[in-house]
Amino acid sequence: MIFPGGKKMNKIMVELGDRSYPIYSGSGILEQLPQLLQPVAANKQVAVISSPPVAGFYLEEITRMLEPGFNVQIYSVPDGESSKSLDQIEQIYSWLISNRFERGSTVLALGGGVIGDLAGFAAASFLRGINLVHLPTSLLAQVDSSIGGKVGVNHRLGKNLIGAFYQPRFVLADHALLATLPDEEFICGMGEVVKYGAIYDPELFADIEKHVDVLHQSESKYLPGIVGRCAAIKAEVVSKDEKEGGLRAILNFGHTFGHALEAYYEYGGLKHGQAVLLGMKCAAWVSGETGLADPESVTRFNQLVDRFDVRLPKHKPYPETDALIESMRLDKKVTGGRIKFILMEEIGQIRGVFLDDMQPVRAAFDRIIAQDAEKQQ
Ligand SMILES: NC(=O)c1ccc[n+]([C@@H]2O[C@H](COP(=O)([O-])OP(=O)(O)OC[C@H]3O[C@@H](n4cnc5c(N)ncnc54)[C@H](O)[C@@H]3O)[C@@H](O)[C@H]2O)c1
Ligand SMILES: [Zn+2]
Repeated sequence: MIFPGGKKMNKIMVELGDRSYPIYSGSGILEQLPQLLQPVAANKQVAVISSPPVAGFYLEEITRMLEPGFNVQIYSVPDGESSKSLDQIEQIYSWLISNRFERGSTVLALGGGVIGDLAGFAAASFLRGINLVHLPTSLLAQVDSSIGGKVGVNHRLGKNLIGAFYQPRFVLADHALLATLPDEEFICGMGEVVKYGAIYDPELFADIEKHVDVLHQSESKYLPGIVGRCAAIKAEVVSKDEKEGGLRAILNFGHTFGHALEAYYEYGGLKHGQAVLLGMKCAAWVSGETGLADPESVTRFNQLVDRFDVRLPKHKPYPETDALIESMRLDKKVTGGRIKFILMEEIGQIRGVFLDDMQPVRAAFDRIIAQDAEKQQ
């Protein structure tokens, strides 16, 4: 769809019956927000929930855009994963109550995945659910966390343990906002981008290989196509399996390995996307070792991941592989003590496999560690 000014805006639907919603994506489409919000924010009362760096870049413009037609109030939370807490939720409730937000009011989540999950859970639970709109600003949020309705917070005993499935009314992903995203955060989002190519779309994978070096340049002409394709894949998978009964599990490619690494570093050493990049390398190796994937696919996959040069943190000794395997068994995706691994058959084609012999898994972790040790020298 082309709108006045000649900018292109794509519309992808997440199909969930009466909870279906559109994802609008494109570069420079933020100015469409007031018009899109009109039918959603029935009582015109909008709570923008954001955090400092993003708010500093974009809040003034958004407020200026919305204020003629809406009653906009702003709530700011500290930046970072520690804001995804019940304590923060409680403070948001108090603020919503004292500012007289009602059933017809709207929460606008402006930020990365942390803000989306936190503001989303507040919207899901306040007055048993008020309108939610996602305005994702990180690459990870644009291709992953703002789509599919998973919202929630962390508990001191574990990540993402409290939450709900709560779909937004729409998602507006303006890729121009990624220009201010730090490079390291962009690479984290690329972990998920590469994942979509690997699990679903060999052409997307080939496009990423071709254009990876220029994707984060401002006005990159390849970015909208690649990010839009990822969002469409997530939308399609969620439309077919909202609550992870089957197909949605393919989105966990590399994640079982990655979560074990993240947990070992106590969620402070590796960012999620970095852990996913390393985790996918492990998954690809295991796929090769078990004969599921041909060696060429494994090499090709790992060559792309190596372009991001993710390192293990220096401040802690390398993990023991036994400890990593133990941690995999605690993952919430484990059923009856058996771990279902999402492995690769070829680029774009994957399969869930129960492994009884953990030797290839151990070997994959060992290789990650050995490669890192080589780079440190
Ligand atoms: N709900 C889901 O389905 C889902 C899926 C994947 C991840 N997640 C969650 O998402 C979170 C991670 O999301 P994230 O990687 O976006 O992290 P994040 O929200 O912490 O954002 C990363 C950093 O980038 C900054 N930032 C974001 N957009 C920016 C911009 N345009 N310009 C400058 N700085 C910007 C943020 O302020 C932050 O410092 C985790 O809590 C994870 O559990 C949820
Ligand atoms: Zn992920």
